[in-house]
Amino acid sequence: MALQNKGIIITGGASGIGAATARMAMERGAQVVIADMNDALGGELAAELGKDRCRFVRTDVTSTESVETLFREAAAFCTVDGVFNNAGIGHQAMTVDYTDAEWMQVIDINLNGVFRVAREAMRHMGKRGGSIVNCASILGHVGQTQTAAYTAAKGGVLNLTRTLALEGAPDGIRVNSLSPGYIATPLLDQLEQEVLDFLTSLHPVGRLGRAEEVAGAALFLLSDEASFITGTDLLVDGGFTAGKS
Ligand SMILES: NC(=O)c1ccc[n+]([C@@H]2O[C@H](COP(=O)([O-])OP(=O)(O)OC[C@H]3O[C@@H](n4cnc5c(N)ncnc54)[C@H](O)[C@@H]3O)[C@@H](O)[C@H]2O)c1
Repeated sequence: MALQNKGIIITGGASGIGAATARMAMERGAQVVIADMNDALGGELAAELGKDRCRFVRTDVTSTESVETLFREAAAFCTVDGVFNNAGIGHQAMTVDYTDAEWMQVIDINLNGVFRVAREAMRHMGKRGGSIVNCASILGHVGQTQTAAYTAAKGGVLNLTRTLALEGAPDGIRVNSLSPGYIATPLLDQLEQEVLDFLTSLHPVGRLGRAEEVAGAALFLLSDEASFITGTDLLVDGGFTAGKS
């Protein structure tokens, strides 16, 4: 799947799924802008991938100003053909123990952040068209204890995606989401081994996913091979949501 001469912004591109997507996009010929709050990891990865086709722009998706700066700097470097709206955090707590601040932070990054980035992407793409992929989760499809804000945000991403797809369609802007199962990335670092073993057992394929397996799906949706696909969600979950075996 070629991405030759396509410019792609990847939020949360410094780590995990985002970093794997940046590497794979570069291998397939794209120009990549890594947008992340983590200066150290983002700068390091951009330097490794090469200055001629990759840039790091420090970005905080909770700030409209920061997102506007990202798109300005990206547009000076490449055309913005694709955006992987992937930055996200997790938080584990029973609802009765959640503070307002914890709830707001997860919603502000995982849902409001996706909105801010998609809005700016659609403004920049205009009538030129493009492809936006929002990172949802299996936890947008099913509930799970101790993840109230995360599940609410990811469920919101699924339906936000449908509305954005309807609004973008006349201008050739495709908007889709993808829903990973549990993927072995630093996001899971906070979980104990016992919990990881249990989560692994929920995937019929008997293992957690790899970041590269999500990256491939994201790049498919960003590529012209997905030219008739908009407003949908792609589950990349090793059968997690298929049912019980
Ligand atoms: N790992 C999983 O099991 C899993 C499962 C389903 C969905 N997801 C989703 O995949 C996406 C990527 O997660 P990951 O597993 O690669 O995690 P990760 O922690 O490895 O990467 C997330 C990246 O987002 C960045 N980030 C956090 N807050 C930000 C902000 N305000 N502005 C800009 N960047 C910010 C972090 O610095 C980090 O580089 C997230 O949206 C996550 O919810 C992950």
